[in-house]
Amino acid sequence: MDTMSSGLINPTNVLLVSLMLVLLIVPLQAQLQVGFYSRSCTMAEFIIRDEVTKAFIQDRGLAAGLVRLHFHDCFVRGCDASVVIDSTPSNIAEKDSPANNPSLRGFEVIDNAKARLEAACPGVVSCADIIAFAARDSIILTGGFGYNVPSGRRDGRVSLIADTRALPPATANLNQLTQMFSTHGLTQEEMVTLSGAHTIGRSHCTSIESRLYSYNTTMNTDPSLDAFYATQLMQQCPQGDRSVDSVVPINPASPTITDVGYYIDILNSRGLFTSDQTLLTSTSTADQVTRYAINPLLWKTKFAAAMVKMGQIGVLTATQGEIRLNCRVINN
Ligand code: HEM
Ligand SMILES: *[C@@H]1O[C@H](CO)[C@@H](O)[C@H](O)[C@H]1NC(C)=O
Repeated sequence: MDTMSSGLINPTNVLLVSLMLVLLIVPLQAQLQVGFYSRSCTMAEFIIRDEVTKAFIQDRGLAAGLVRLHFHDCFVRGCDASVVIDSTPSNIAEKDSPANNPSLRGFEVIDNAKARLEAACPGVVSCADIIAFAARDSIILTGGFGYNVPSGRRDGRVSLIADTRALPPATANLNQLTQMFSTHGLTQEEMVTLSGAHTIGRSHCTSIESRLYSYNTTMNTDPSLDAFYATQLMQQCPQGDRSVDSVVPINPASPTITDVGYYIDILNSRGLFTSDQTLLTSTSTADQVTRYAINPLLWKTKFAAAMVKMGQIGVLTATQGEIRLNCRVINN
């Protein structure tokens, strides 16, 4: 035996002690479970799916709204349903930030599901879990791959407009996006994968106004945007049009289908936001865009996994937070 491996601080002991620490700490951390409501509210996932399906039949765009709702919930104070809390006379909530108002939609779907869940199993199913299930159901309804949603999230009691700083702006470049996602424990690869959600849904003209009309001091229109597409967009979104009704599809070829149209758009210089087109500015992310564009199975699989990971950001569990009775209002 050499001197290194004798004594208390030898490699074997260090390894054993680290292993024990890991075993001790892991169960104390936030743990969500697939099937969390299987006994306490057997019908929970069914009721939510039913409400999402009903809404989707009325308006297929709501699926996109619900996927974005989950993203905007998770990136601000973790997936704690802080995004659906209403403002009060003394507090402007997240949902009234320009990042969310007037663009975010699907609130009524969450309300309707919550009302039915409160009737079926009062005080059991969190709003944060409803949002997570509704996002998953929306992806399935639009043709993406389903996934089990680990659940048991609890609802937060705080929602502040200032916290929506954590949401990436449409003007963000690759470094900024990578940085903002890494803050939430997501890799650059996962950022590229999750951005594929932009294969469904719409954008308000206001979100692309600067890219079309005031790109920089020398050019009005972002030259990384296909010139013909830019002309079309300028017709749909005249300069200064700030109407909440002025919207364009993000992936015009198939705006209600979860396919790889988003990545194909980017390869054709038709990514709608700077944050989309910027994915071509490094070789590794550009390669990833190309791989997804030609391999829908690969992207759908990775997307499902990345959604599960996004759904775990900063969750409250066990005795933290509360089970809100009305998703718009914190409990007394
Ligand atoms: C990478 C950074 C991202 C940026 C900068 C970004 C930005 C935007 C913007 C500006 C809009 C248009 C809002 C409007 O004007 O109506 C939008 C829509 C949307 N975003 Fe993102 N987003 C990002 C990532 C994500 C992620 C990770 C998801 C979900 C996993 C997502 C899902 C959606 C969906 C589904 C829509 C369409 C919403 C609707 O039709 O109601 N986005 N995004
Ligand atoms: C404006 O953008 C173009 C294209 O990206 C670039 O070549 C030019 O240097 C920019 N001008 C300024 C003043 O930043």
